Order: sequence, then structure tokens, then C-alpha cells
Amino acid sequence: YTALLDATDIEKGTYPHYMLKEIDEQPAVLRKIVQHYQDAHGNLAVDQEIVAQMLQADRIYIVACGTSSHAGWVGKQLLETLTHIPVEVHLSSEFGYNPPLLTEKPFFIFLSQSGETADSRQVLVQVKEWGYPTLTITNVQGSTLSREADYTMLLHAGPEIAVASTKAYTAQIAVLAVLAEVVGKSKGLPLTVDMQHELGIVANGMEMMIDDKEKIEQLASEFLAVSRNAFYIGRGLDYYASMEAALKLKEISYIQTEGFAAGELKHGTIALIEEGTPVIGMITQENVAGHTRGNIQEVASRGGHVMVIAMDGLNEAGDDFILPKTHPLLTTLNAMIPAQLLSYYASLHRGNDVDKPRNLAKSVTVE
Ligand code: G6P
Repeated sequence: YTALLDATDIEKGTYPHYMLKEIDEQPAVLRKIVQHYQDAHGNLAVDQEIVAQMLQADRIYIVACGTSSHAGWVGKQLLETLTHIPVEVHLSSEFGYNPPLLTEKPFFIFLSQSGETADSRQVLVQVKEWGYPTLTITNVQGSTLSREADYTMLLHAGPEIAVASTKAYTAQIAVLAVLAEVVGKSKGLPLTVDMQHELGIVANGMEMMIDDKEKIEQLASEFLAVSRNAFYIGRGLDYYASMEAALKLKEISYIQTEGFAAGELKHGTIALIEEGTPVIGMITQENVAGHTRGNIQEVASRGGHVMVIAMDGLNEAGDDFILPKTHPLLTTLNAMIPAQLLSYYASLHRGNDVDKPRNLAKSVTVE
């Protein structure tokens, strides 16, 4: 695999950190994915065998760890909406010793940037023994999980070097979006999304967010870098985005951060909100926007320092980040840009080693 790399892919160039370079690469990665998963006529396409296996499945099980598991939650929404096949998302380390009751015709998707995560491999070995079909979605061709699964789809994100995963997350979601669209279409379902077009719109939007670095750095240094703890809140896809945004912030800034389902805060966690506690609300889903607004107000009235990431059309005066409009199933992709950059700058201003946070490894090959 190494031989296939372009030398510039693994050099930082003028970037101070790999993480910043990898954040900036995300629009290009999305465009590359769209180009790669095309047939001779320029339509989105996926290995026919994968599609056939998924059409036979009565349930999809997504198995992953860390950031990849958060991409899995977004994948669940995409697959259920576009293919009407029920999807469960499982953490590998839980599934390994406490597997759920499986349906008759399961189809397994392993999500792994590195393709080497031991917790995920343990589940793959078990599932293969049971004789069920398996697909690995990974960034590394020839990796263990790729070799051992029946099928592979590559992320085409180029090497990800920073320990905190950024472009692999967005690439996983883009590949899952392509897969969901192709399977849904071959099932003849009424709702189809022109993913080529929609992912192109996302890529353009990402570029706009990436250009907003100065403002993001200012907010990160003023409100996050000095804080002991922080919260991201949202509902539906915004909840899934909150989980990933929180992981990003905690793993490199060491600020204790939780991603919460906004409606669940009042059932306990709101007790932690003090004067100045940063709470970042994500609002990209129309059907729950008003509810999340209400939750944000509850937090603000208890002294929390609120920041809002809202999609154009759902925004209100005073919101900190307005995301360009995208297809509602793909909003997580744009929402993650300010979240990734907030964690990058918070970490930087705290004097941490951004690319190599303490206690963490890029790829965890022990259980
Ligand atoms: C490690 C990394 C995380 C990553 C997780 C899963 O813990 O620090 O950033 O999300 O492994 O890795 P994978 O390669 O399986 O996606």
C-alpha cells in the first residue's frame, strides 16, 4: 500500500499539524469519493455483489469503535431512510462479549479507518465463523479487516496521520451515503437522492466553513481553552454529530466533554451546568430545531455559555456558525468542520500536542 502513496500525502507541507491539513482536505476527499464510486456512464455505483447481499438482508449490523462508530450512527440514518432496511449500530468491544440477538439474515458492516482495530477484528472473526456476509469500509487497502471480510469499500481519504480522526469520519459518511443511495435505488424505492450532486454541495459548503478559521480560533481560545468541561447537544442527526464533536474536543484538548441528546439533558445532566459552562447546540434538522432551541434556552438561563451551530434557514440572530444549506441527511458533514476546528484550536491554545494526544494511539491493535 505504501508504494501507492503520493509522497505529498504523508508530508505536512506548510501546515503546522497533520490534523489541520486533514481537516482542510475534506472537501477534496468527498469529491474523490464521488468520482471513485461511478460506473462508465457516470452514475454512482457499488460492487454488485455487495448490493445483492444487502438486498437479501433483513437487518444491517454496523460494528465499529471510536469515531468510526459515530460515523456508523449517521450511516444508520442514511441506510434506514434510503434502503428501508433496519440498522443496528454496535461498539465492537461490547458486541464481542455480549452479542445482540441476531435476525435470520444479517449483513455486517465493519467501519474502521485503519482496518486494524483489534476489538473490531475479534467481532469479524466471530461473525465469519457464524457464516454471515461481511463488508469492511476502511481507509487502508490490504488491512487486516479488509483482507478478512467478504467485501471492501475504500474511503479514498489518503493517509490519516493525526491521532484524532477527521477526514476518515466524513469519508465514512460519504461512502455510506453512496452505498445507501445505490442500494435504495436498486430496490426501486421512491425516495432517491442525487448523492453525486448533494455531496458536491456539501464539499463547497465545507470550503466556506474552513475559511472561517479566524473566528473559530477566537471562540475556541476565549471560551473553550479555559474551561474544565463542555457539552455538545442536539437531536437526531445532530445528536450523532454531537457525540463525535465531543469526542474530538475531549481527546485532544483534555476538556471533559459530553455529547448529549438535547432532550435528555433535563433528566440529570443539566445539574452540571454552571455559570460559564460552554454548551454548543447543533441545529440542522428542521423537525427538531424548535425543541433544541428550547433546550439551549434552558441551558442559557442556568448560566451556560451557549454557542450555536445552525444550518441556514434554521438559524436565529446571534448564532455563532451558520452552515450552508445541504441535504438534511448530510448535515453532519458540514457541522463537523467548526467542531473539528474548535477542538484543534482549543488544544493548540492549551499547549497540547495536537497530533499526538496523551494516552491515545492512532490504531489500537490490542483488545
Ligand atoms: C483509536 C483512535 C480513534 C479511532 C478508533 C477506531 O482509538 O484513536 O481515533 O476512532 O481507534 O479506529 P479505526 O481505525 O477502527 O477506525
